[in-house]
Parts: sequence; structure tokens; C-alpha cells
Amino acid sequence: MDWTAWRDEFPIFRNKRYLNTCSLGALSRRVRAAQDRFFDEWEEHGATAWYSTWMAALDGLRERFARVIGASKEEVALAPSVSVALSSVASCLDYAGRPKVVFSELDFPTVAYQWAVKANAQRVIVPSRDGISVPPEGYEAAIDDRTAAVATSHVFYTSGAIQDLRRIANAAHRHGALAIIDAYQATGQLPTDVHEADVDVLISGGLKWLLGGTGIALMYVRRERLAELKPTITGWFGNRFQFEFDPRRFDFWDDARRFELGTTANAAVYACSAGLDLVLEIGVEAIRARTTELGNDLIDRLTDAGFAVRAPRDPASRAGIVMIPMKEPAAVVHALAERGILVDYRHDRLRASPYFYNTPEDNAALVDAMRSRAS
Ligand SMILES: Cc1ncc(COP(=O)(O)O)c(C=O)c1O
Repeated sequence: MDWTAWRDEFPIFRNKRYLNTCSLGALSRRVRAAQDRFFDEWEEHGATAWYSTWMAALDGLRERFARVIGASKEEVALAPSVSVALSSVASCLDYAGRPKVVFSELDFPTVAYQWAVKANAQRVIVPSRDGISVPPEGYEAAIDDRTAAVATSHVFYTSGAIQDLRRIANAAHRHGALAIIDAYQATGQLPTDVHEADVDVLISGGLKWLLGGTGIALMYVRRERLAELKPTITGWFGNRFQFEFDPRRFDFWDDARRFELGTTANAAVYACSAGLDLVLEIGVEAIRARTTELGNDLIDRLTDAGFAVRAPRDPASRAGIVMIPMKEPAAVVHALAERGILVDYRHDRLRASPYFYNTPEDNAALVDAMRSRAS
């Protein structure tokens, strides 16, 4: 694979060292062209484009996402954000008999917030010993017959640690609970087979490793679970009789569209589809190999330069997120941005996330700049 050729697809590299995909994937020429196509259609056809093109584009997006995670498109719903998708799933559960929802202290907080606002739900937080990962036994001990769901991450946003989805799903299923996975930091960069992993729900979105920008999230719901999951927040897109416009007539779609609510943001649909096309064309296995190589390279350079790194030791257990603990990461991030090196921070750590379009030279520039600032 000629990785530097792919770099030309992303104009930001003309004058920046962009190492922040875990916040926002870089804009590609293809995604920009897809936006233009959407605006051209809007300009030329107005609302007619819904019937001629846009409804099919929604289906095309569901189908692309399904391919990336090993699902079928009938198991995929569109949502405007991961938070909305989580809310929709959380609205299906009956907390009277099963009040407990298990998650970990390292999950992105929007996961926990779904249940913080449900008076009859009881939150059980599995702790991490090292701030990097959560032992699977922690979930196994926390889940019981009063657990409605375990809701946790495929990859932790503050450490890049990869969780064993199959083991978490098994622990949930032994007690009749659902396994709900926030895969926002995984999909695109990490090979995923949702059927093999046996999870019930997996939610991701376009923003980061799928290169598709803001305004769109995607939700997988396992086929066998669809009939029993009936959201109590809904809208006309969830209604199989959508185009009868009859307030008396509502019934859920049989497929995952039952989780959809209202009109989609079609610019986002086009952007995300184009991002997914890039990911599918390159292939997630190849992306994973390249990203692992770059992550290892960055960790080696940081270690040689005397920086501590907070990440799983085993490359097989970590995705493309590298955390560097420091006192005032915000100031460092701003100083680096002034030198054209774009990274991010969370809590007390600087966060760099090399993706397939980065190079060892990007890593070297980051470490050199950090070293010269530290000395
Ligand atoms: C792992 C993870 N989950 C969820 C979110 C937030 O998703 P949304 O804003 O689409 O609700 C983020 C945002 O960065 C994230 O990193």
C-alpha cells in the first residue's frame, strides 16, 4: 500500500501535522466532493430529490456501515448522534424488574448520562485499577439477574485500550442482560464483527475513524433482538406507515429503522457515506496494521525522549490513541497548534492519535516539538 498517496486525499497535510483523528477525522477531497454533490442535487431538484436520490442514500449509508461491522443493513439505524442512539436504546428497557445498568468509569460520560436521568435505573460503575483498562472480571462480578444492560466501550477514549466484546457480551447474556457497545473510538480503525462478538447493540458515528464529519451516528441492533426492543421515544421515521401521514396509524418497522426518529441531516449522510467508502476501499485490516505501526513508532519516540506514556503495553490491546500524562496539557496543545501540530487533551493527558494518513515524520515532529518545549 502506498500510504503517502492516500495522504494527498487530505489537504490538511499541505501545511499541518494532523494527529487528532480520535477527536475528528481529517477532511478528504472525496467527502468535500460528496457535499458538493448533495448541494447540487438540492439546488437542482429541491424536495424531489428525497424520492429520486436521498431515501436511497440513507439506505446506502446503512449498507456501508453494515459492511464495516459485519452486519446486514436491516440491522442498522441512523441517528444524529451517539447520545441520541443511546437514548433510544435506553428507552426500550424495563427498569422495574431489572433496574441495574453496568458501565465502567472509563467510558465516555454520555454513556452513563443516559441512566443518570432515569429515576428507576440504578447505575453500577466498574472501576479501573490503572486508568487504562477495566478488567473483564469487573463486569462479570457486577452483572446479575437484576441487570438490564451492560453499556461500555469497544475502545476507551482516554487510553486507546481495546475491550474484549465477546467476553462482555457473554457475561451479559448469562444473566439475560443486553450488551450495548459504544464503538465510536473503534469503528474504522479496528476490525469488527458484531455477530462474532455477539453484542446486542453497537453504536458508532462518522466523526472520527470513519472520516465522515459531524451530524451522523449509526446503530447496529442484532436481528434477533429487534422485535423485543420497542423504543419509547420515536418519530415518523420509525413508523412503517411513514408516508400515510396518519396520526392514528403507528407501528414500528420490523428492521432497525424502528430506532430512527426524524428527518436526517443529508449533508452528513453524504459526508459519512464518502468517508465509509474510503475506509472500505483501503480496508479495515490494512488500516489497523498501519495504525498499529504508527502507534508503536510514536510510543517508541516518546519513550526515547523521556516522556511517560499511558497506554496498554501490548500493541494487540491498544488502538490508535496515545496518551501522554502532563501537568498542563491544554497549554502544550495550544503551543503545538501554533507550530502547526494538531493534537488534543483530556483530563491530565495530551492525546495524539495517528491514523493511516500520518507518517513517522508526523510523529517525529510532535515529539521534537514537545521535547524542545520541555527543555
Ligand atoms: C467514545 C465516545 N462516545 C461518544 C462520544 C460522543 O458522541 P455524540 O456527541 O455523538 O453523542 C464521543 C465523543 O467524542 C466519544 O469519544
